[in-house]
Amino acid sequence: MGLPDGAPSGLEGSVKEQELASLFQRNREWAKSMTDRDPEFFSRLVRQQTPEYLWIGCSDARVPANDLIGMAPGELFVHRNIANLVHNIDINLMSVLEYAVNVLKTRHIIVCGHYGCGGVRAAMDRQEFGLIDNWLRKIKDIYAANKKALDREPDPERRLNLLCEINVRQQAHNICHTSIVQNAWRAGQELVVHGWIYSIADGLIKDLGIRIDGPQALEPIYVFPGFELDIGF
Ligand code: CO
Repeated sequence: MGLPDGAPSGLEGSVKEQELASLFQRNREWAKSMTDRDPEFFSRLVRQQTPEYLWIGCSDARVPANDLIGMAPGELFVHRNIANLVHNIDINLMSVLEYAVNVLKTRHIIVCGHYGCGGVRAAMDRQEFGLIDNWLRKIKDIYAANKKALDREPDPERRLNLLCEINVRQQAHNICHTSIVQNAWRAGQELVVHGWIYSIADGLIKDLGIRIDGPQALEPIYVFPGFELDIGF
């Protein structure tokens, strides 16, 4: 179909064309290395997609989801956005979540933030960047709600990293506040939401100990009807 050797059209001879050509070259090398190791790899991949994990992470180029946890193509369903935020009106993320939970029957949802996140850093400043200000406003809300704890930390980098951790916790809860996740729980589907954070400085992921597998850990106001909560609401 169409382009010879996958080369982009309309840029012949330009520097840009050469830059992109190297990407196609790398792609061919990668595909070959995969089939050299496992000749059936791609034909198997075409036939099925049954990832057990949904990854919600930051768009930051230094946080490539599959690579960090040694996952091959087909093993991880991925959604990334700036600062790994879960906005309940984000049609993109909600579609990914619904497909993962209802069709793929993904059993683990991992919200993975990272230390030194530029999105979180931008939200902590009183600066104006444009459209992204609307996206990052949710982090300002989290800052305001946790101001006491954050302001007790005098070191700016440690304060940023603390907010990165709190942000992961909040986004993991936001996932659980959706009807998608709660309907799955109500139907008896096994589904656990985890909160992790990645350190670009050493390549290691830390488990923040967030593990939500039912509505009991949630604020009752966010829990849909049909669950019996111990606290009685
Ligand atoms: Co980031």
